[in-house]
Amino acid sequence: MSKGDRHPGEILVINRTEVEELLSPQACVERVLDTFRWVGSGEVEQTNPVNLYVHDRLGPEPEYGHGVVQAFPAMIRPLHRAAVKWLGSYRKNPGRDLPAISALDLVTDIETGMPLALVDGTSVTNMRTGGHAAVGAKYMARPESETVAIIGCGNEGRTHLRALGVLFPIRRVVAFDIHESAAASFAEEMGNELGVTVDIASSVEAAVAGADIICVVTTAPQPVLMEPWVEAGTHVCAATGFRDVDKTCATAFDKWAVGWYRRDLEWVEGPEVGRIGGLQPGDLWKDDIYADIASEIMPGLRPGRDGDEERTIMTHMGMPALDAAAAALVFDLALEADAGTWIRVF
Ligand SMILES: NC(=O)c1ccc[n+]([C@@H]2O[C@H](COP(=O)([O-])OP(=O)(O)OC[C@H]3O[C@@H](n4cnc5c(N)ncnc54)[C@H](O)[C@@H]3O)[C@@H](O)[C@H]2O)c1
Repeated sequence: MSKGDRHPGEILVINRTEVEELLSPQACVERVLDTFRWVGSGEVEQTNPVNLYVHDRLGPEPEYGHGVVQAFPAMIRPLHRAAVKWLGSYRKNPGRDLPAISALDLVTDIETGMPLALVDGTSVTNMRTGGHAAVGAKYMARPESETVAIIGCGNEGRTHLRALGVLFPIRRVVAFDIHESAAASFAEEMGNELGVTVDIASSVEAAVAGADIICVVTTAPQPVLMEPWVEAGTHVCAATGFRDVDKTCATAFDKWAVGWYRRDLEWVEGPEVGRIGGLQPGDLWKDDIYADIASEIMPGLRPGRDGDEERTIMTHMGMPALDAAAAALVFDLALEADAGTWIRVF
């Protein structure tokens, strides 16, 4: 079935279960790699996320968290697709039995402007975030990395590990979560799925000892990974802009890379400082960053890792192009598999 056989007002709704069945870690990592390349070569139009702050983020936190609704628009010329992610984030929503983050991706055709699909954007976000961590690690971690520490055993812990498994010969995983039950279910599920040993550590410091790659993917409001605990040769994947990672890592390590300057400077020294991510005004500056992946490291303008002893960290807060390109892939895969539900909107 192709969209061409459908009325122009029909769109394909693709739910979370379908996204998770259709989008393999391998396909997602490949799409994220392509997207970074397209961003670096100027084949993508995107804005930084449009942040609509529901509450004053500099004021006291309301009962269910400082709410923010965000739009992530991007047009990926090589795919002939544009998409926008519409995301709501309320940190303490689980306290009212709602997810902290919920998102939808609307995919359109750039030749005609017609809407094509409405995709569960939460699962796409989870997977593309693991994907960009893995792409950062491809350039910044030792290629033979086989021991991974996962700090925070939730959605991102899972997608980070799956995506790293596409690029690295992982043999051992050490997991830590503040909730023991989360670590236990993670260990059982991921051990079975990936066929690797997953040990549970009693502290973050114990979990990261001897790790080749450390993923810090918690919802902790303060740093849980401290700089002196990270050994020579280790790479850190940090998903929260130093909210849960000691910001000293940025300056004390050999290299701090970001995904793409135009996105990541927003939370380093731009309007998101103090609002999204963990940095406060004046904590860090562009000059502290070694390079970005999209426009410097991938095109070969600056090297990634240099030798076995460097301590490296990559942090990227997610650019709209990643959601758009991954959601467009989900649409194509759904058409191939005859998956999803068509609805007519006009
Ligand atoms: N950079 C990006 O583009 C991007 C995208 C999506 C999510 N994120 C961030 O990734 C983080 C994880 O998201 P998720 O969807 O996996 O959340 P989740 O709720 O599924 O999992 C978070 C886990 O962290 C654990 N945790 C909380 N405090 C901890 C602590 N002090 N020590 C150890 N573990 C702790 C929780 O128990 C939970 O198991 C969030 O902070 C989110 O904002 C970043």
